[in-house]
Amino acid sequence: METDFLVIGSGIAGLTYALKMSEAHPDKTITVITKTDADETNTKYAQGGIAGVWDENKDSYDKHIEDTLVAGDGLCNEDIVALVVKEGPERIREIIDLGANFDRNEKGEYSLGKEGGHSENRILHHKDVTGKEMERALLAQLATSSNIHLINHCFVVDIITQHHLGYLVTKSTLDITCYGVYVLNKQTNQIETILSKITVLATGGCGQAYRTTTNPRIATGDGIAMVYRAKGKIENMEFIQFHPTALFEPGVSPSFLITEAVRGDGGILRNKAGEAFMERYDERKDLAPRDIVARAIDNEMKRTGTEHVYLDARHMNKDKFIHHFPNIYEKCLSIGIDVMQQMIPVAPAAHYSCGGIKTDEWGRTSIQNLYACGECASTGLHGANRLASNSLLEAMVFAHRAYLNSADKVEKLNFEKRIPDWKATGTSDPREMILITQSQKELTQIMSDYVGIVRTDVRLERAMKRLDLLFTETEDLYRSTKVSPQLSELRNLITVGYLIVKGAQFRKESRGLHYNTDHQQKSDLLQNIIL
Ligand code: FAD
Ligand code: SIN
Repeated sequence: METDFLVIGSGIAGLTYALKMSEAHPDKTITVITKTDADETNTKYAQGGIAGVWDENKDSYDKHIEDTLVAGDGLCNEDIVALVVKEGPERIREIIDLGANFDRNEKGEYSLGKEGGHSENRILHHKDVTGKEMERALLAQLATSSNIHLINHCFVVDIITQHHLGYLVTKSTLDITCYGVYVLNKQTNQIETILSKITVLATGGCGQAYRTTTNPRIATGDGIAMVYRAKGKIENMEFIQFHPTALFEPGVSPSFLITEAVRGDGGILRNKAGEAFMERYDERKDLAPRDIVARAIDNEMKRTGTEHVYLDARHMNKDKFIHHFPNIYEKCLSIGIDVMQQMIPVAPAAHYSCGGIKTDEWGRTSIQNLYACGECASTGLHGANRLASNSLLEAMVFAHRAYLNSADKVEKLNFEKRIPDWKATGTSDPREMILITQSQKELTQIMSDYVGIVRTDVRLERAMKRLDLLFTETEDLYRSTKVSPQLSELRNLITVGYLIVKGAQFRKESRGLHYNTDHQQKSDLLQNIIL
């Protein structure tokens, strides 16, 4: 198959890019691939909303920029922060024009929420299901497009480069070029080749590397692992954001999120003795940036020997709570918690990857004709810690920029016709699926036990040794059996785990989301760790 533009991922980043390209170039072919159903994305589960300076009388670009820089703890790229904050409102207006509905107050103005680290109310939202509404609007628009070909249930295994033509490609090769991808068609179980002139990775995050995560099953870091295998640049993987307040529900995966907006509306964190402990940790209390709140909760849990703390909403106005958070209210009721009577048990869960595929201000990766946007990319916006509700914004801003940069480039490109078919090395069907599920379980155990909110040198070293063994076993399995999505995801998760540990080992300081008790000071040297 040949396509001018190949977009991998149907979340906010991939769909925004595809729709823009489709409108600007009705004569070109655009293919969007997704590994399960089109709407099964991290995007669909976004709750709190999308941050943007909406009313310049009450808020300002400077304040949003400053809040983003403070959360990022010294590692944000200031030019990138400024451009995202300033271009963001225009992108939000565009999705409103596509039909996404955001809540309004009695005066008909957009109702702006607040979350940790924000100095002003600036978060547009649709109840507590903002992502679902945005995904709905984007997919509805896509259905009207005549030149976007959406392929569901197709698993991208690897991106194709000169390596597949038999050339030696290393990290030092300057002109690594992407010619398309190999995909596993889940219907036929065959690996097929898709040639593309421009390829866009919008494959989302990697929360599934951890035992407890808010991310759905699809979040296995595939794009990041593929680029690493293709010798592209990955950066800042040690900055995994743990959301402070996932619903504590043992055995349930993924964890249901209790949006930070509940704290923005007055919710209070309490320990098992009922103490509002955040005032002991930060003057911004419950609305301090996420790294600080998650570490405080982790500390309280360890100090009091509990597996969770509580989020107290009992004092909040019932009608207002149900109006803003109907989904959370219903979910809690379904497990026997009336949030007006009982406190909600919550614990931190892996939530967001701040690092990823290194890109420039146009979404270009270090591999030619390959772009990345959304959670899989590392644009420089988040630095060492992402400010709440900045990721939907970032995804739209960089999808737009990637579209602008790649639109005309396509005219000068040709398909690389010499690409060989996929070489199936393994002959038998995956013999024992249980081996794959057991290894994945082991991986999440290693990452949660040794590479979580608080790290030490010894724990990181132990994690690396365990990952080494898992890597060797999995590569053996990969060589001897037919490729399956499960086996590919396991390989990708092990690669992502390795990148997180390696980044954490290189960073000899505690900064933002990376906290190592053996290196508690911040280094004077501000550096991004590129792997
Ligand atoms: P996704 O939306 O995750 O889409 C990834 C796509 O890639 C999917 O279509 C998937 O099928 C496809 N894909 C992946 N690998 C492959 C492969 N190998 N082959 C084929 N297809 C593949 N951010 C905010 O700004 N505000 C919020 O309120 C907010 N709330 C959140 C709440 C939750 C519970 C979660 C999990 C995240 C939240 N976030 C929030 C973060 C935000 O939702 C994500 O960062 C963002 O939606 C990512 O969008 P994306 O387009 O990059 O990827
Ligand atoms: C939330 O609603 O608390 C999540 C917001 C985010 O991850 O940006």
